[in-house]
Parts: sequence; C-alpha cells; structure tokens
Amino acid sequence: MNTIVVGAYWGDEGKGKIVDVLAADSDWVVRYNGGDNAGHTIVAGGKKVVLHVLPSGVLQGKNAAIGPDVFFNPAGFLTDLKAVEESGFKIKGRVVIDERAHVIMPYHVVLDGKSDEDGKIGTTRRGIGPCAKDRAERKTDITAADMVGAGFYEKIKAAVAAKKDELLSSGVIKTKYEIEGYCKKAYDVYSAYADKIRKYVGETAYLLNEEAAKGKSILIEGAQGSLLDVVHGTRPYVTSSNTTAGGAAANLGIDLRRFKVIGIAKAYPTRVGEGHFPTELGSYEDAKKEEKGKQLTVAEKRNVAEGDETLLGRWIRSDGFEYGATTGRPRRTGHPDFVALRYSAMINGIDEWAITKIDVLGGKTFKAAVAYKKGSEITERFPFRLEGWKPVYKSRTYFWQAMSERECIEAVEKGYDALPSGMKQYIKELVAYTGVPVSMISLSPKREITLIKDALKRTSEYLRRK
Ligand code: IMP
Ligand code: MG
Repeated sequence: MNTIVVGAYWGDEGKGKIVDVLAADSDWVVRYNGGDNAGHTIVAGGKKVVLHVLPSGVLQGKNAAIGPDVFFNPAGFLTDLKAVEESGFKIKGRVVIDERAHVIMPYHVVLDGKSDEDGKIGTTRRGIGPCAKDRAERKTDITAADMVGAGFYEKIKAAVAAKKDELLSSGVIKTKYEIEGYCKKAYDVYSAYADKIRKYVGETAYLLNEEAAKGKSILIEGAQGSLLDVVHGTRPYVTSSNTTAGGAAANLGIDLRRFKVIGIAKAYPTRVGEGHFPTELGSYEDAKKEEKGKQLTVAEKRNVAEGDETLLGRWIRSDGFEYGATTGRPRRTGHPDFVALRYSAMINGIDEWAITKIDVLGGKTFKAAVAYKKGSEITERFPFRLEGWKPVYKSRTYFWQAMSERECIEAVEKGYDALPSGMKQYIKELVAYTGVPVSMISLSPKREITLIKDALKRTSEYLRRK
C-alpha cells in the first residue's frame, strides 16, 4: 500500500517515528514539502537521530526522494547525511533530489531573520519564506538543476543583481562595491556543495510514477502540520508550503487515489512560534522563561491537580520534551482539540489516525475541546480567524495512571484491549468526534513500542456503534 503521512496540528506530532515504523514495508520514502525548517526525531536501536530534510525512512535503508516543492538547503542535506552515518546507520538505497527543488541561498536565511526580526510570525529562520517568494516571483529563483548545471555563477550574479536593493537595504551586502565579492563567495561555498550533491539530482515525478506502476510501495512524509498549511492553515502564522495531503499529489505529480492518508494526531497539540492556539495551557511568554526540561516538584503536581493549567502545560512540555528540534524553542502545549482534529481530517481526507505521545498524558488529568465560543456564538468549525475564539470543553475529564515501559511493551504484545480504560475512553471520543479510526498508538519514542494489534478493528467498531 502507498501511504501519505501528515501531521494534524501545528507540526511536531511525532511523524518521524511513525514514518520510520511504516518505512519497514516501503520501497521509497519521500519528502514533498517544507525544508530544513522541519526537525524529525527518530529513536531506533537505542540511537537518536534528528533529520531536517532527508526523509526519516532512510534509517531503514530505503530509497529516498526529495520532491520539487522542498526548499532545499544543500548544507542541511549534507548535515543530515552525516548525522545518519555518524549514528551508525547506513544509507543503503538511492537518494534522489528533484531538479526542480528550489535552493535556499545564504541571503534567504539572512532575509528571513530580518523580515521576522520582531518575531511576529516566529519563523524558524531557515530562509523558507524568502526562497518561496523568489520562486513565486520567477526571476530570481535558483533550482537544484541550476546549482549543478553550467552557468551557476551567472545565475547567482543575476539573482543578486535583481535583488540588489533588497540585499543592500537589509544589510545582507553592506555596499554596492561588495556585490561581486559576495557573489564569488556564495559561488565558492555553493559550488563545493554542488559537487557533493550532483550525483543525487534527478527527476522524481517520472521516477515515482514508474516505481508505483511496477508495484513498488511509496511512503510520503509531510513536514510541518496541517494547521501550518499556507492555504488552509492559521494564516499568517503558517509556513510557505502545502502541508496537507493534497499538496503531495500537486507537488510530487502523483495520483492521490493510489494512497492511503494517515494523520498523525499527537495526544495533545503543541505549537512553536506565534499564532492563536485556542486550547493553550499557560502562555508562550511563561514558557520562554522556564528552565528547559525542569521537572515539576511534588507540590507543583499537587497544584496541577487543583487546576493550575500553566503548570499542567509545563508538565506536558517537560515530560514530552517539547522543545524545537530545529530551533530549540519551547513548544507551547495545550489540551487536545477535537475541533482542530476534525478540520484536519476533512482537509486532508484522513483515513486513519496514528496517535503519538499518548504516554506523556499518563498520570495527568486533561480535557478535550469539542467546540469554540466567542461571545454568545458557538461553532464546531475551525474558523479562518481564530482570534477571540475560546474552547468549549467536553464536561468529562480524562485520566489514567502513567504506564511503565514494561506495561507498554506488554500492551503492544496483547493488543488494544490491554490499554488502560481511561486512555481508551479518550481514544473513543476522539474517534467518535472526528469520524476517523485509529490504526497505531505510540506509547514511547522507541520504534518497537508502538501498538498496532487490534487498534483499527476496535476503533472502527466505535464508529459503527455511534
Ligand atoms: P517557517 O516555515 O520557518 O517560515 O516558519 C513559519 C511558521 O511555521 C513558524 O510558526 C514556525 O515555528 C512554524 N514551523 C515551521 N516548520 C516547523 C516544523 O517543522 N514544526 C513546527 N513548526 C514549524
Ligand atoms: Mg519537528
């Protein structure tokens, strides 16, 4: 089966681990969007690897493709290759970077920092937005094909000349006398990258369609989350590409009808960067002041039991290690949001959920949003403008005791029925509200500790009985 994996919230849902698990049965793993703004953390065989642009499935020795809508940073790519090798894994399959992928140039990175200096969007400062802008403008863009082809230096010179005013006024280049030197330096650095990546540059649309026609299975890995989609997300606090499943078809040139869509529903939402977040626990300002990863004291946990939501947010953040894999920023945490999940299910056409990090909620009492309200208005829809909308929670709360690793391993072996009843209650309501069954439940960052047995069967029954 061919599969597309997308995040249901604002990214960091744990896609890396699920892709890594699914990759075992795939011939190709493919990235279709974003760039090295993403950070996918995978823990396998006792080793942890963070990848930014290489698809996570390469750790399973599979063939990997980077599609034409990926904003391609050659330095990030080479760092990923090194990270794989250094952690003891081997790249065994083919690696193909689409020739149409746009290259992130050094000035894109600086311009990203400058244009978001006030942190209004809270970008990852990897140059994604400025590179996307050049692509849309169609005069100053540089593709992977340009980078490895003849005339790369002329291409850089022409791009810098066309962007001269912007580069001078934003201080990327100090004076007009330094323009030539700047171009030469960029060329020196990038032509060295080009020599290293030339052998990987190819054409992915024909390749993937031909492989699919031969019966090879393809696993497509989305970066970021559905609510960061440039069209359907919470604009302007979004990334610059389509993160939803349809984006994979448009951007890779593949036939969506051949694919099953798996949505990654992290057990609780997180958000890194700015933007509205209806079920947020505490505030971003408080999160930024915290000591990274500091555990809660017994007294603080007692305060959570008495209703301190800021502390609950911090507790989830430290237990779930919710800090950006790319930027190190604390991730804002929230109560589960079924309104957002149902919207994600709709805009992606999600067939099955994979629930991740549910272990983090063990031992904590939490709620789930089932509607939003603003004044006297109530809606079950996810509004374009989230400002002012407050969550309406289901009246019941959810709770189960934290499971030990041994208990998690036992549950994985026994199957869905062996899960704690409070956890099943939460899953049941998530399924009923979103109309989508669950096929995988991740109980630990470890690849092996993922419950699959009976999950789809049992959670599909919830829908039939509804
Ligand atoms: P950009 O993609 O760097 O332009 O950042 C735009 C917004 O998307 C910011 O809010 C970022 O924090 C967010 N973002 C980008 N990539 C990721 C990701 O991989 N995980 C989570 N948030 C991301
Ligand atoms: Mg991430």
